[in-house]
Amino acid sequence: MRIGTDGIIAVVGAGTMGAGIALVAAQAGHAVRVIDTQDAALDRGRQSVAKSLASLVKRGTVDEAGAAAIAGRIGWSTDVGDAAPAALAIEAIVERMDVKIGLFEALARHVAPGAILASNTSSLSIEAMAAAVPGAERFAGLHFFNPVPAMKLVELIPSSRTAPAVIDDLEALMRAWRKLPVRVRDVPGFIVNRVARPYYAEGFAALGEGIDPATIDQALESAGGFRMGPLTLADLIGHDVNYTVACQVFDGYAGKTRFRPQPSQQALHDAGQLGRKTGRGVYDYGAELPAPPF
Ligand code: NAI
Repeated sequence: MRIGTDGIIAVVGAGTMGAGIALVAAQAGHAVRVIDTQDAALDRGRQSVAKSLASLVKRGTVDEAGAAAIAGRIGWSTDVGDAAPAALAIEAIVERMDVKIGLFEALARHVAPGAILASNTSSLSIEAMAAAVPGAERFAGLHFFNPVPAMKLVELIPSSRTAPAVIDDLEALMRAWRKLPVRVRDVPGFIVNRVARPYYAEGFAALGEGIDPATIDQALESAGGFRMGPLTLADLIGHDVNYTVACQVFDGYAGKTRFRPQPSQQALHDAGQLGRKTGRGVYDYGAELPAPPF
């Protein structure tokens, strides 16, 4: 394995996913540099990590000193140049191809030629991104799930240009982080977002027909055996991300009806009611941002 625990990990994007990835990397012993363009996002990311660590202390998973050591391994910055010493830079920013490519161009200028670059995209083509990423042989998709500390699955997505050793290194690293890596093909939505799309879509269709959201979620959770109903889960993911992914997957499968984004979710997206992260989505979470569910 190329990236040992002494390898520095850069995480770009301090939002829902970036904060979770940073925490997991720091728990595995790495020094982590989290980079975001927004100071406010860095503050929220830091708070999210602190809340998660507090709940781990409460549950006895780590003691106070261990939690402090984990937090101490994470640095927060608005300067992408701080990714320079990273052995691996993981991008977890807005789900837009042009913005992600711009970031990878910047990262490629700063990190060492042997450093691995990875995208946490949910729905954008890794092949299309690779065509624009400088040094595409060291670039791949590395798709975590939300909440990152709780979800074991990670999808590994090579492009046709990715060096096999890079995927091997990422797979070994994910196992070291106690994740369950699976190698998947670069198709719209990969495996999970492809198969799960109709789950959200039908949940939002039922909501649009006037069915009470808690009833929809409860039916899927208690009778269907799902850990979260589709609307609770979409509130956790964020409707900016989830609706954008829905549109990308719909386009990717040339408008197949089962992938059609639902107007009830578009309405939340357009109104800025993005879910837990804004305090209001399908459900109302009140003024205080809720603790991450892990
Ligand atoms: P988010 O909206 O919570 O956070 C994104 C962060 O990126 C924001 O803090 C924003 O300020 C920052 N950002 C935007 N452009 C930037 C740039 N050029 N440089 C540095 N920082 C920048 O988004 P979230 O939910 O964390 O999603 C991030 C990525 O992860 C997206 O590609 C999304 O599709 C993917 N993803 C999201 C999941 C979810 O459940 N939310 C699950 C799996 C993947």
